[in-house]
Amino acid sequence: MSYQEILGRENVNDLDAILAITNTDVDEVVHAVKDNADAIFTWDYERSRPALGRLYEKAKTSQWNGETDLPWDTDVDQEELAVQMGMGGVPEFAHLLPEEFRSTPVAKWGQKEWIQFGIEQQNWMLSQFMHGEQGALVCTAKIVETVPWVDAKYYASTQVMDEARHVEVFAKYLDTKLSGHYPINAHLRMLLDDIVNDSRWDMTYLGMQIMVEGLALAAFGLMFQVTPEPLLKQLLRYVMSDEARHVAFGVLSLKEYYEQLSAAEMRDRQEFAFEAAVRMRDRFLQQEVWERLGVDPKTAIRAMRSLPDDPEQDLFNQLLFSKIVPNCKKLGLLDAGDGWLRDRFTEISVIQFEDWVDTGEEYETLDEVAKDRSA
Ligand SMILES: [Fe+2]
Ligand SMILES: [Fe+2]
Repeated sequence: MSYQEILGRENVNDLDAILAITNTDVDEVVHAVKDNADAIFTWDYERSRPALGRLYEKAKTSQWNGETDLPWDTDVDQEELAVQMGMGGVPEFAHLLPEEFRSTPVAKWGQKEWIQFGIEQQNWMLSQFMHGEQGALVCTAKIVETVPWVDAKYYASTQVMDEARHVEVFAKYLDTKLSGHYPINAHLRMLLDDIVNDSRWDMTYLGMQIMVEGLALAAFGLMFQVTPEPLLKQLLRYVMSDEARHVAFGVLSLKEYYEQLSAAEMRDRQEFAFEAAVRMRDRFLQQEVWERLGVDPKTAIRAMRSLPDDPEQDLFNQLLFSKIVPNCKKLGLLDAGDGWLRDRFTEISVIQFEDWVDTGEEYETLDEVAKDRSA
């Protein structure tokens, strides 16, 4: 398949094509997607997959309560937070803004506007996390129905509960501590639609557990590192403990299944993984934040990209793939066939993570809930 067929554009970095995808029905309350799958019963109740069994046991003992296990009485001062994250200091460096920015309203932004930018970014980021969590809730409920193995049905049912809790805590954080929601980003929605739409049970896992949750695990980890806000830190710490299990669920299940797929079937999976990677990268352009602040997203994003030295942003974008790439390698997706996915990941500059730790067993050491209980 060509890039046109996989991505709907010839050039993976075509900014016009990326920004042309916007969310037009922002007022819709219910969004229906055909899930094209049979619900599968199995009469084989034999517990023949011990690794999934261990994961299931872990999930049962590491449940937590989003209402009572987080310090919701913490005061969150979003403005102060944006200052702590460095937004108040940006005007001092305004002369470093590239030429393209100088014709936009951004050129006149003072401290107040940059702080508002920081606040909007935070509202946007947490909103997208919340929408992604709902995607995980729906996808995992689908896996309960479609996966043919009883051990996987058992485990997936615990993940459904985990994801409900994640949607719940992100929604509560947005409603009670931040200052506004954003509708789902169009690239993220397109990806979630594609995942739910696919009739093959393993594609739900690949899209959700490996790609979306692999990225979420990395993104939550980065946000946990940088945020000084104690409630969000604790929330992310617990959510990440669960996410590590979810990604492990994907790796353990697909490892077995992919070993017996044909080259053509593997190529389908490689293309799906690449499409997901690009959609997630596109989403992080945060086009809606610029729109809301009255700045043309194209000019803003062009200008940000041409910043002479923005290694930090680049590094951030690349680090989002630090879990996905080693997991794809473990599943044989990088090098299947002629190494098609390795070439694509090289092209979007994320291949350097291939030998980082994969998430097959990492959940044991990331179980912060168990650590707090034994402390
Ligand atoms: Fe989640
Ligand atoms: Fe998850």
